[in-house]
Amino acid sequence: MQENYTVCKCKKVTYSDIADALHKMQKLSDVLDAFEDVKKVTHCSTGCGGCHDKVIDIISKIMMGHEDK
Ligand code: FES
Repeated sequence: MQENYTVCKCKKVTYSDIADALHKMQKLSDVLDAFEDVKKVTHCSTGCGGCHDKVIDIISKIMMGHEDK
């Protein structure tokens, strides 16, 4: 439902940008590694850093198979 809400206001990165970036990754083993990759792809959390926890939270949910859909 909330697929397109903006997670990172600085870089205008949405939930689906993060989900897409994650789905393109080969292996999802570690939340923090995935976070680094998502950051490289989407540039989320590279501005004020205020969305850091939200991004981590979304990544862990997706990796555990609990996507907001
Ligand atoms: S809201 Fe994501 S870096 Fe500022």
